[in-house]
Amino acid sequence: MKEKRDELIQRRKDSVLGGGEARIEKQHKGGKLTARERITLLLDENSFQETGMFVEHRSTYFGLDKVHYPGDGVVTGFGTIHGRLVYVFSQDFTVLGGSLSETHADKICKLMDLAMKNGAPLIGLNDSGGARIQEGVVSLAGYADIFFRNTRASGVIPQISVIMGPCAGGAVYSPALTDFVFMVEETSYMFVTGPNVVKTVTHEEVSSEDLGGAKTHAEKSGVNHFTASNDVECLKKVRDLVTYMPQNARELAPQPSIFEFSENKFETIKNIIPDNANVPYDIRKVVDCVIDDDSFREVQEDFAKSIVVGFARLEGRTIGIVANQPASMAGVLDIDSSRKGARFVRFCDAFNIPLLVFEDVPGFLPGTDQEWRGIITHGAKLLYAFSEATVPRITVITRKACGGAFDVMNSKNIGADLNYAWPTAEIAVMGAKGAAEIIFKREISEASDPAAKLLEKEAEYAEKFANPYRAAERGFVDDVILPEETRPRLIAAFKSLENKNESLPWKKHGNIPL
Ligand code: HXC
Repeated sequence: MKEKRDELIQRRKDSVLGGGEARIEKQHKGGKLTARERITLLLDENSFQETGMFVEHRSTYFGLDKVHYPGDGVVTGFGTIHGRLVYVFSQDFTVLGGSLSETHADKICKLMDLAMKNGAPLIGLNDSGGARIQEGVVSLAGYADIFFRNTRASGVIPQISVIMGPCAGGAVYSPALTDFVFMVEETSYMFVTGPNVVKTVTHEEVSSEDLGGAKTHAEKSGVNHFTASNDVECLKKVRDLVTYMPQNARELAPQPSIFEFSENKFETIKNIIPDNANVPYDIRKVVDCVIDDDSFREVQEDFAKSIVVGFARLEGRTIGIVANQPASMAGVLDIDSSRKGARFVRFCDAFNIPLLVFEDVPGFLPGTDQEWRGIITHGAKLLYAFSEATVPRITVITRKACGGAFDVMNSKNIGADLNYAWPTAEIAVMGAKGAAEIIFKREISEASDPAAKLLEKEAEYAEKFANPYRAAERGFVDDVILPEETRPRLIAAFKSLENKNESLPWKKHGNIPL
């Protein structure tokens, strides 16, 4: 027995060593942790249960018959985060650059199947040179097996991709199919084709970092949802984010019984909206004055900044927040902000997370750039996402609710449950000046002083519509509330919606304007 025990112990040691000490040192020198160190930091202490530790590749081409690495470049298994089950795979760059072989893919797929059967989140730590070049098409097929499962798991279990090294070529499509992408500054990058191919095809000279680093994808493409400055911070952020999510689409997010709310925020919230309706303010201040202290986790913070989305807690209960941001382009809806909002709304709806909307929107962004790139289709995404959402939905109009954007931003007519407006709300087809110019065109042009006439008519229109009461009279908002009443009113409102039970008409699936 002793010999057999010793053999197992030795085999485990070999597997744990991955590509060997020298490559581990290189990994550390590059500012990266190893696949196993990452798992240790991600999961609760001693909770990791490994699967497939002795799996080896079967390839014999290009000298691969002479190299065998137990585990084959990916560490897979399950464990807990704050006591809740998660499945995790972590690619080991020290083994053939973390490249994906047939068996490497097979390990990930088995894990995904377990996660689906047991209804628990899947977290993928990506650090890979892509398809294992020596294996050819079987590696490509392995990727396809993963993409297929990512898609089938979408909306069933939360899927999180953490990019902690290279992620290039078709490999990027697994993270792209998952719900949230984390990236680490300086050490991670994602692109379909790297700088060399870009140079050949388009003659552009660009570094990996500029082409597909964390900052690029956070600000320009929106592919990256959360940025961290190093591996340790990144894994901490992942641990934190999963506490906002349910295990699967049939469950609710956990509700911590302990939460704090600083009473001074009841005063602060009274003075956030500027006296002049054209002066911007930061909607995040409003959010902060309503939710539990320090509970906001903003998603895609640096992308499409005219809309703010993220998770928060209200008396411990997870909610999803979608808010126009007057401090960025006056909170206008454009292509990117519509896409950003729509994707977040759909995640929340898929995973039973109630939605809270703060509305201050002047309308959709005009211009040839937006029209030619399809603001019609992209704006429709947000409209579609809200309209199909069956989770509890509440809107608070803080200031402007103009034009089609009034309808889109979770209006009652597209199924919101309860809509409130602050006394500062202005709910109208368009701004007073534009409206006056159109409907009083003749009167203004025929006046002895057209400019004075315009001002007079603008004031007339504003008096009629630059308030919440016309909308309240018609029931388009359920009540007009003071800013300091917002938190208690929302807590009561969401409680009243706890048993909301609404389903969509039978269909195979809808056809969101993609
Ligand atoms: C096999 C690979 C590999 C790969 C790296 N290695 N990528 N082995 N298949 N795809 C090996 C290297 O040979 C080396 O082995 C070790 O991993 C570390 O690689 P280095 O190049 O020394 O590391 P570094 O300098 O950090 O560069 C990392 C890298 C580079 C930028 C990722 O290795 C690279 O460009 N790799 C190829 C990337 C690529 O073109 N992949 C295919 C993409 S297409 P030793 O033994 O020396 O340590 C694709 C299609 C997917 O993935 C399609 C899905 C549909």
